[in-house]
Amino acid sequence: MTMTDLDATAREILRGNDRGGYTIPTAGLYPFQWNWDSAFAAWGFSTFDPDRAWTELETLFSAQWDTGMVPHIVFHKEDDGYFPGPSVWGPGTTPASSGISQPPVAAILARKIHDSVGGTERLRALYPRMLAWHRWWRDWRCPEGVACVTHPWESGRDNCPDWDPGMANVDGSQVGTYTRRDTGHVDASMRPGKEDYDRYIAMVQFGRACGWDQKTILEDGPFLMADPAITFILIRANRDLAAIAETLGEDPTEPLAMAAEIEAALPSIWNDELQAYCARDARTGEFASAISSGAALGLLAGVENAAMEEKLAAMWDRVRYGIPSNDPAADSFDPRRYWRGPTWPVVNALIAIGLTSAGRSAEERRLRKETAELIRSGGFFEYFDPLDATPCGGDRFTWTAAIWLAWANREDA
Ligand code: DGY
Repeated sequence: MTMTDLDATAREILRGNDRGGYTIPTAGLYPFQWNWDSAFAAWGFSTFDPDRAWTELETLFSAQWDTGMVPHIVFHKEDDGYFPGPSVWGPGTTPASSGISQPPVAAILARKIHDSVGGTERLRALYPRMLAWHRWWRDWRCPEGVACVTHPWESGRDNCPDWDPGMANVDGSQVGTYTRRDTGHVDASMRPGKEDYDRYIAMVQFGRACGWDQKTILEDGPFLMADPAITFILIRANRDLAAIAETLGEDPTEPLAMAAEIEAALPSIWNDELQAYCARDARTGEFASAISSGAALGLLAGVENAAMEEKLAAMWDRVRYGIPSNDPAADSFDPRRYWRGPTWPVVNALIAIGLTSAGRSAEERRLRKETAELIRSGGFFEYFDPLDATPCGGDRFTWTAAIWLAWANREDA
């Protein structure tokens, strides 16, 4: 297929996954609106339909809770092809939604969209909503400065070995029976295992039982881990929000202060043994045992660290295509199982934003070429084996199509 054909297919995927004001990640496997998927969808739409790009973000933020939280799934319409659906989460919101959040990439991408296609009034309307969401992160997810997640799904990197220490302490034995739907849509060997799912559901049941009371979840919930990826994303998102504030004539002081507070707490997730920023169990203090692609997002936040970069470069050199989600040298590495090793075009795109900000153009070009090669050879899949480019997970995936249009297929890729 030529690049032009692929552009056309990518646009068709976005249009085809459009359910009217919001885009599903892929038919079957993910039939609702997902939070960070939508922000990437908006970036993709901005390359050919700016109005639709802003609508995607507006629809996402229309599901924002009064607390400022923007849920990780918005269940606009019923669909029994996904588990756990709205009746399992049960926060009683309109529209129905899940009870946790997802990586706050919206401000980063809203700024990019505005820079490339304008839309100042649409951005102005979103600004207070994004600010409220960032405050929610500060108040309910940054108990010691860096960003924590209360469920691996909140990280967006579900079964990454980053979460193994916290997951080991979650009791999944009492969840009762349920039927998974994901393994009916894609190969089970590319998805999280049954024990993971039992624990995921136990955490949802805990949240539901306390009425999604954030104080209870933060203090007594079954899982609380510091996430290097969201920490770096939130620093960047706050700085981008400050830049947006300036564009709009608003006061940037608060988002800048939020970024500075998180940055000051970074030493708490420095793992001396791994020589890298790393996930850490906020309850026990235990670090994850391997470096993950979360560390590679440091440059997004302007964090330059020679020792960590040496580790990341070695991790990248161990594979052929893009940054793997887990270090191939680690025992936990599994090249096709979701976040335990595969490379994710969408994470590569975020890492590339960091590389560009740091002026690392050769590395950015390498990452873009490798990501483009995956999509050219395998199609618009959710993720890929970083060793041999085998396409994995869902096909006709919205965010893969979006990043093809917005980043991977820039002319020199
Ligand atoms: C899933 O169901 O696999 C999702 O990642 C949860 O957000």
